[in-house]
Amino acid sequence: MKTALLGYGVVGSGVHALAEARPEHGITISRVLVRRDIAPIRAIATRDFQEIVSDPSIETVVEVMGGEEPALTYVKAALAAKKHVVTANKLMLSLHYEELLALARANGVRLAFSAAVGGGIPWLANLLRVSRVDRIASLGGIMNGTTNFILTAMQQGGADFAETLSTAQKLGYAEADPTADIDGLDVRAKLALSCDAAFAQMADASAIPTLGIRYITAADVAQFHALGLTCRLIGKAERTEAGVAAYVEPMLFAADAPEAGVNGTGNIISYCCEGLGSQSFFGLGAGQAPTASAVMQDLIDVSCGATPFSLAHCEGSFVPDASKASHPYYLRTSGALPEGCIDRMLGQTPAGAACITAPMPVSALHALVQARLAAQESVFAAGLASLES
Ligand SMILES: NC(=O)c1ccc[n+]([C@@H]2O[C@H](COP(=O)([O-])OP(=O)(O)OC[C@H]3O[C@@H](n4cnc5c(N)ncnc54)[C@H](OP(=O)(O)O)[C@@H]3O)[C@@H](O)[C@H]2O)c1
Repeated sequence: MKTALLGYGVVGSGVHALAEARPEHGITISRVLVRRDIAPIRAIATRDFQEIVSDPSIETVVEVMGGEEPALTYVKAALAAKKHVVTANKLMLSLHYEELLALARANGVRLAFSAAVGGGIPWLANLLRVSRVDRIASLGGIMNGTTNFILTAMQQGGADFAETLSTAQKLGYAEADPTADIDGLDVRAKLALSCDAAFAQMADASAIPTLGIRYITAADVAQFHALGLTCRLIGKAERTEAGVAAYVEPMLFAADAPEAGVNGTGNIISYCCEGLGSQSFFGLGAGQAPTASAVMQDLIDVSCGATPFSLAHCEGSFVPDASKASHPYYLRTSGALPEGCIDRMLGQTPAGAACITAPMPVSALHALVQARLAAQESVFAAGLASLES
């Protein structure tokens, strides 16, 4: 199957190497869209996307450029030209999934994106398979290696957030602009895509309440340690009486919870089904080899006509409602703690008083934190819940 790569960075070059290392699958990288000279692929490189989209011999386009544009324009043009598309771009997908899926359906081609959530972890494919025969009650877990590296390092080294982020950037685990990772936006996009596979409807990503780890302090982490708890950034979706609740927030886990044992850049994502019970997927959520492996799996599926992403699957989108999902929170704020919802005072930290709240609706706690942040307070909150609840 003649295939073009859009982008030749970490993932693109990894896909090329893997396709060449496994010629038995018949995936031939015949063109690569670049924007600078890359000597080893000069013979197949082009700076003109039209050369790819107008080439009838190219059946499949792999978009591994990242970002919203021009990736979106190129993917739409490829689908309209009846080429299958494989992408790892969760940002673009979370914003334009319905439109792209409709375009793929209309043109009778496939859109596959196993690498977009969990990197090399076989998460989306298995989530979709289990949703065909079981009812998924909840899903979620650690979906971002950068924030997990920061939280693990703070827990083990006692350093503050800014210093730990700087270390992560020096080691190449965090980008120069870390916003998407530390503010939970990357997890939000991955959660929205996971909802599609689990519930056959895409969650409106912009409506998912999202708290990141930007405001965590070393004193917060010391409080967690004293409580025997470990903080992890979690994306979670669960069925409630109000429909599906989806949210992204730091959460605290007991030492024997699987999430507490996932350190560094590791990921763990789980689903809980009515019949099958819980299953967890653990491993490297990013990096060249794992991500290229997931892209290659999609390419092999496409070439066999057997992509796990059925074009009949997603039917529209839904607005997640987190008003009926509820659990206690660790809450630390430089302002006054909210009256009426304190279950247990934890004492003073340099950045304000901390408490454990009584169980609170997720939507209410997120609204409270956003209002405090808007009022320039220093505030950090983390939920206390198990994924099986
Ligand atoms: N890296 C991972 O572990 C991982 C894991 C899961 C998903 N992903 C996703 O995979 C995608 C690619 O990530 P990556 O890590 O491979 O990024 P990367 O190393 O930055 O590579 C992106 C490549 O795309 C090229 N590019 C960008 N805009 C272009 C344009 N307009 N025309 C031609 N080439 C263009 C860049 O060219 P220059 O070299 O000239 O800048 C670069 O070579 C992203 O959507 C990312 O979210 C990555």
